[in-house]
Amino acid sequence: MTTSNKDKLWGGRFTQATDSFVEDFTASVNFDQRMAAHDIQGSTAHAKMLHKIGILTDLELDSILTGLEKILIDINNGDFNWSVALEDVHMNIEAQLTTAIGPAGKKLHTGRSRNDQVATDIRLYLREEISHIDAELHRLKTGLLNLAEQEHDTIMPGFTHLQVAQPITFGHHLMAWFEMLKRDQERMQDCLKRINIMPLGSAALAGTSYPIDRFMTAELLGFDRPSDNSLDSVSDRDFAIEFASAASLIMIHLSRFSEELVLWASTQFDFIDIPDTFCTGSSIMPQKKNPDVPELVRGKTGRVSGNLIALLMLMKGQPLAYNKDNQEDKEPLFDSADTVVNSLRAFADMIPHVKAKRQNMYQAAKQGFSTATDLADYLVGKNIPFRDAHEIVGLAVRLGIETHRDLSELTLEELQQFSGEIDNEVFNILTLEGSVAARNHIGGTAPNTVKKAIENARKHSAAT
Ligand code: ARG
Repeated sequence: MTTSNKDKLWGGRFTQATDSFVEDFTASVNFDQRMAAHDIQGSTAHAKMLHKIGILTDLELDSILTGLEKILIDINNGDFNWSVALEDVHMNIEAQLTTAIGPAGKKLHTGRSRNDQVATDIRLYLREEISHIDAELHRLKTGLLNLAEQEHDTIMPGFTHLQVAQPITFGHHLMAWFEMLKRDQERMQDCLKRINIMPLGSAALAGTSYPIDRFMTAELLGFDRPSDNSLDSVSDRDFAIEFASAASLIMIHLSRFSEELVLWASTQFDFIDIPDTFCTGSSIMPQKKNPDVPELVRGKTGRVSGNLIALLMLMKGQPLAYNKDNQEDKEPLFDSADTVVNSLRAFADMIPHVKAKRQNMYQAAKQGFSTATDLADYLVGKNIPFRDAHEIVGLAVRLGIETHRDLSELTLEELQQFSGEIDNEVFNILTLEGSVAARNHIGGTAPNTVKKAIENARKHSAAT
């Protein structure tokens, strides 16, 4: 089955019509129509530039701009008739413009190709998505700061190898998440620097013979500057790969965060309560309250990192300049942007409502000999070399394990059998409060240090 090529914008040199399956197979309009607003934004700037250099008359510019505005309204209202035969968002809009305003519509594509047009659209699209991501990251970071402030002196066990290691403050733990998200935000902003360069004017691959003003279009579109090489700018999608990579790191961070929330909400840990509004029940087990939001975010991390691999592989075999392969960049990018925005949104909504179960956290920190390092440091203070101190504490821990007691519950006499240097003051440093308060250098877990870190973070985020 074939359909006629007479309505196609490139039909001239063809004698046979496109196979109808090939038409469907090669079309992108079903997904790239999502960039319609960006396409119209690009066309509007291009038309104004063509007018400035004398290619469009006042009247022609006017009817193009009015026509494009009307098309955008129709698209937003769902009144636009998308046609697969017209292949993609670019040709659908251009064809409709010509139908609506007549011959002036046919002049819009002067000095332009779909190759520089699509590269421009993706950059405009990503720039907008980055601003949504930035806003959600900011909201989530603010939620974390508030919770960290509230819990700056809440004691919990810190883990290595998921074994109780040393006591820490919950505020400090939350600030670790804050730091990761801060870097994520910086990474997105950094990638934006390379996204915000304008390909328009590169035309198909070699530039154009019209006296175009690329600085004018760049300025109209809010790009930092026009790109420096036409071949490069219609073909490379490294900026999209960078975006997908920064998006993957956000998801990896959210996934690690999710894992902790899921563990902490379990009956075994019982460190936090996640409000009912962010959980669901089980259709068979009436007692269940499942932490669906963090679980789903953890699960969605797979597709976002999959999209990164898809984009990397998309690029790897492409000779210069544009190849149709690049049409495959859109679905992974759209999916990554949507997934990241939605996951961040769910987290930003949820985090302010997470409740710490302080008593349970405290009790858990008391188990697992979490102040053993403090005892070793105490012995070092008594001039015992650290390695010997380590050995002495190991013996004390063994006695604790055998008699089911924490180090702070051993008697002075019992402790002294391992080292005569130990005196009654040892019990001050064996407390959880003493242990966290001692770590009061920059980056440490002491409640006062955490408060300072929160203050600095608030200043920094107000300044950016
Ligand atoms: N739909 C195409 C894409 O997404 C637009 C560019 C097509 N260019 C071409 N010469 N076939 O990449």
